[in-house]
Amino acid sequence: MGLLPIAMAPPAEAFNADTPMPHHSSVSGASPIVPQTHVGQRVLVTAAASGIGLATATAFLHAGARVFICDLDPVALDAALRDQPGLGAMVCDVSDEEQVAALFKAATGQLQGLDILVNNAGVAGPTALVEDMDFSDWRRCLAVNLDASFLCARAAAPLLRAQGSGSIVNLASTAGLFGFPRRAPYAASKWAIRGFTRTLAQELGPFGVRVNCVCPGSVSGERIERVIRAEAASTGQSEADVRSQMTAYVSLKTFVSPQDVAHTILFLSSAAGARISGQDITVDGHTETF
Ligand SMILES: NC(=O)c1ccc[n+]([C@@H]2O[C@H](COP(=O)([O-])OP(=O)(O)OC[C@H]3O[C@@H](n4cnc5c(N)ncnc54)[C@H](O)[C@@H]3O)[C@@H](O)[C@H]2O)c1
Repeated sequence: MGLLPIAMAPPAEAFNADTPMPHHSSVSGASPIVPQTHVGQRVLVTAAASGIGLATATAFLHAGARVFICDLDPVALDAALRDQPGLGAMVCDVSDEEQVAALFKAATGQLQGLDILVNNAGVAGPTALVEDMDFSDWRRCLAVNLDASFLCARAAAPLLRAQGSGSIVNLASTAGLFGFPRRAPYAASKWAIRGFTRTLAQELGPFGVRVNCVCPGSVSGERIERVIRAEAASTGQSEADVRSQMTAYVSLKTFVSPQDVAHTILFLSSAAGARISGQDITVDGHTETF
C-alpha cells in the first residue's frame, strides 16, 4: 500500500513552518496538572484516536509538544481531531510494514523530525484457552501488540540515534508481569514488549536515546468493558463478578484512568526522566497477583 491520505485539515496549518507551533492555549480541555515540560518536542503516538493514546497525545499537547497521531479507525480519528484540532493525524494500521513506512514519512515530514515515539497500539486479542484458540487470532494479537512496536521502533531508531537524543515509550501491561489464563497471546505479547524495551534500551543508550515501557493495570473505559464482557461470556460469570474480581487483588482497589498512564509516559519522556532507561513502570494501583 502506498501513501495513505492524511486525515486532517487544521493540523496541516498548525504544523506549517510559517505558522505558530501549537501550544497549550490551542488545546481543548482544561489541564490543571500538566506543566510545560515538552515545549517544541516532536511526538508520534500510535493508535491514538481513543483511550490511553488520545489521553497521551492530549497531555503532550498540553505540555507544549507538537503531536502526530495515527489510528486504524478513520471515524475515531476524525472525532479525535474535532476534540483536539492541534493534532496531526493519519489513518494507519501499524502492524503493516508499508503503512508504517508511510506513517513515518508523513509524521516526520510534518513534525520536521522526531523526539518521542509512543508505541501505544495494542489489542486485547482472543479470550480462550490455548487449546481452543485460532492461530489467526493469536497472530493478529501479536501483530498489533508486538510487530507494530518493532516496525515503529525500527523506523524511529536511526532518526533518534543520528540526533543523539530521544525517547521511546512502549505500552506493555500488568498482563506482562503475570500469567493470564485465557489471554495467552495478550500476555505473551506484553512480556515480549518488556524484553524488547530492555534490548532496545541497550542498543540505543550509547547514543543518548532512552527506551522504557509502561505497564497499565485495568484502565477504566470502553476497552475494559469489552474485556469484561468477553471474560464473562468465556467463563459463565456475571459481568459484575468479573469487574469486582479485577480490583480484588489491586492494593488501591481501583481501575486506573487513561490520564494516569499518560502522565507517566510524559514523565518518562521528559527532562525529569533523563536518566531513566530500560525500565518497566507499572501504573496499576499495585496488582498483588492476577
Ligand atoms: N485499557 C486497558 O485496560 C489497558 C491495560 C493495560 C495495557 N493496555 C495497553 O495500552 C495500550 C492502549 O490501550 P487502550 O485501552 O487505550 O486501547 P483501545 O482499545 O482504546 O484502542 C485504542 C485505539 O487503537 C486503535 N487500533 C487498534 N489496532 C490498531 C492498529 N493495528 N493500528 C492502528 N491503530 C489501531 C483503535 O482503533 C483505537 O482507536 C495498548 O497497548 C493496550 O494493550 C491497556
